[in-house]
Amino acid sequence: MAADLTTTFTGVRFKNPFLLSSAPPTESESNILRAFESGWGGVVTKTIGLHPVVNVVGAKAKFMRTTPEDAYVSMRKRPGAALHSSWNWELISDKTLDWWLPRIRRIKEAFPNRVLIASIMAGSGNDKELKNWQRLARDCQDAGADGLELNFSCPHMDRRDMGSNIGKDEGLCSVVTEAVKEAARVPVWCKLTPATAEIEVEAGACFRGGADAIVSSNTFPSIPLIDPETLEFEINVDGLVSSGGLGGPAILPLSLAKMAQMTRAFPDKNFSGIGGISDFAQALSYILLGCGTVQVCTAAMLDQAVGPNVIKRLLAGLDAFLERHAADGWTGVENSRGLRRDRIVAQSEIRRPDAAGYHSGYEVAEGYAPAVET
Ligand SMILES: Cc1cc2nc3c(=O)[nH]c(=O)nc-3n(C[C@H](O)[C@H](O)[C@H](O)COP(=O)(O)O)c2cc1C
Repeated sequence: MAADLTTTFTGVRFKNPFLLSSAPPTESESNILRAFESGWGGVVTKTIGLHPVVNVVGAKAKFMRTTPEDAYVSMRKRPGAALHSSWNWELISDKTLDWWLPRIRRIKEAFPNRVLIASIMAGSGNDKELKNWQRLARDCQDAGADGLELNFSCPHMDRRDMGSNIGKDEGLCSVVTEAVKEAARVPVWCKLTPATAEIEVEAGACFRGGADAIVSSNTFPSIPLIDPETLEFEINVDGLVSSGGLGGPAILPLSLAKMAQMTRAFPDKNFSGIGGISDFAQALSYILLGCGTVQVCTAAMLDQAVGPNVIKRLLAGLDAFLERHAADGWTGVENSRGLRRDRIVAQSEIRRPDAAGYHSGYEVAEGYAPAVET
């Protein structure tokens, strides 16, 4: 590799802008060590909390695939089927903070120059929970974490004061971020839920609370399909299912739209893009919309649990891209950051064959006589 793949994001130096996102690929010390050995520039730990976590019986995550002849989406494995999405109803890490802290310390000792971000989650709405956020923040940074990612985005927490329920409330986003910032010496990123109408509102609230970056998307709320033979949900416990999270290729355009809403509203702020990335082409879309780093989950889960081939492809893709643009004077990924952000405009600003005859969908203004052919 010839090009300089390093980048600085929220003041932290990265060997490359590619991270494993908070999820099964990052839930153990051995996985995270393997991820760094494979070349990932950063890793965000599986979300760490203080409250007891017990996952459902059976599979916590599955993959949906589709076939070219009928576009049927199903978890059933069939020959010739291509990945459509991942679906999960896994909660945050079921390991305690005390389990995590020595592991964060050891990982940083083994890889002092790679970036380890601790994803954390507590509740909201009272001082006790704000103190829980601060304790998680202090303990993880004291153990050596280079940054904190606040999980305001898990779509299936049972508690009303946690996860995406925080990310749907701009007041809570602001208050929790501010509380963590009081305790933090390292950068604070907020991972927002895409399940709101105007995500830039919650992003703005996080920035007001002092957030150094916004991360999006977590998985989109969704339910699995019903098997037409058995009439059962393809994933269920005792016939029952709850809303879970969709990730992978199916969410890529949805997540890009959410990201564009935020990067357009806050062009000078930092963003980390997630959703449907398995190759450099998809990562580039996020970068061109204004992201400084990107994160990967589903593609890595399907590639030896930590994505050694995915990171190889991402690095080779970025290297080739920078080589291709060397003559333009580009020296790093920053040169392409946000280059296509301003190409997203209102529908009325898109050229149409009869521009003079179209008034953005409104009737012709009163007093304005339309041309009459004689
Ligand atoms: C099984 C599973 C578990 C996850 N657990 C977490 C988590 O603990 N914390 C978190 O912030 N995101 C979690 N995520 C969300 C991912 O980090 C990521 O935001 C999402 O899967 C979209 O990325 P992708 O399209 O690359 O999968 C999880 C995703 C999956 C599939």
